[in-house]
Amino acid sequence: MTHIRKAVFPVAGMGTRFLPATKSIPKEMLPLVDRPLIQYAVDEARAAGIEEFIFITAAGKGALEDYFDTAAALEQRLAMNGKTDALAALDRTRMSEGSLAFVRQNNPLGLGHAVRLAQRLVGDEPFAVLLPDDVIRSPQGALGQMVDAHAKHRGHMVATMDVPLAATSSYGILDVAQTTGRLSQARGLVEKPGPARAPSTSAVIGRYILEPSIFERLANLGPGAGGELQLTDAINADVETAGVNGYRFDGERFDCGSVQGFVQATVAFALDRPELHGDLSAFLDTCTAPARQVA
Ligand code: G1P
Repeated sequence: MTHIRKAVFPVAGMGTRFLPATKSIPKEMLPLVDRPLIQYAVDEARAAGIEEFIFITAAGKGALEDYFDTAAALEQRLAMNGKTDALAALDRTRMSEGSLAFVRQNNPLGLGHAVRLAQRLVGDEPFAVLLPDDVIRSPQGALGQMVDAHAKHRGHMVATMDVPLAATSSYGILDVAQTTGRLSQARGLVEKPGPARAPSTSAVIGRYILEPSIFERLANLGPGAGGELQLTDAINADVETAGVNGYRFDGERFDCGSVQGFVQATVAFALDRPELHGDLSAFLDTCTAPARQVA
């Protein structure tokens, strides 16, 4: 049992970078190898001890609800035909009774707004937020590492990674007061500053553990970067009272919100699978051999 029992998954985004694929399926359902993106975030949360899963969703995201529901006819047929492997593949999609909730975000006002909608379901306890676009490959799971660190340090905690200075305008960036090992105490956070304004190159990656005091900050939030209600701004407003730590997780992060990152993640996760590894790495060698290179 951990002290973090609930996790919020903002999944209302339109996924325009993956059009035309996302014209009729949610981007969280795009498969990395043979599992949809959302499965990786849910598996990581489960491994970290999460028991309640709150999806902030929107119109057109119905496939996500069906995915985590039972598929009675399919399961019956697989059982009847003795397809035990196929049945076992569904195990990851099974959620315990009453553990899954969906809240509709019917106005796309930003990440801060999405998290605010979880207030009634979260209540008065610290909770996790996972952005499924950020897929993290790590034996322990990034959120599990953070839950352990949060048990000791409390306050708000954000996952961090060092990024090139030229990339700061794509991330929330920490103003770092002091670093000890993997933990950086923040003096503040800025959402998507250009390199000239960035207080550091320590970037927020989509894993958060937030104290319930965040909801009061979210309630009083005005529009920030891009005219949206930014979670980063709400955390920044709470630095003095709750404290904010960055946690430099152990693992490799893929930005599956971009096509480039998604393709790289597909290759990396496929190579991790023993049944695919051999043939795939041989194939990749032929792709990069000089004769196949495109001028
Ligand atoms: C969001 C957050 C940003 C964070 C990023 C990580 O931005 O607003 O602070 O650094 O996720 O992926 P988005 O990528 O949704 O624009």
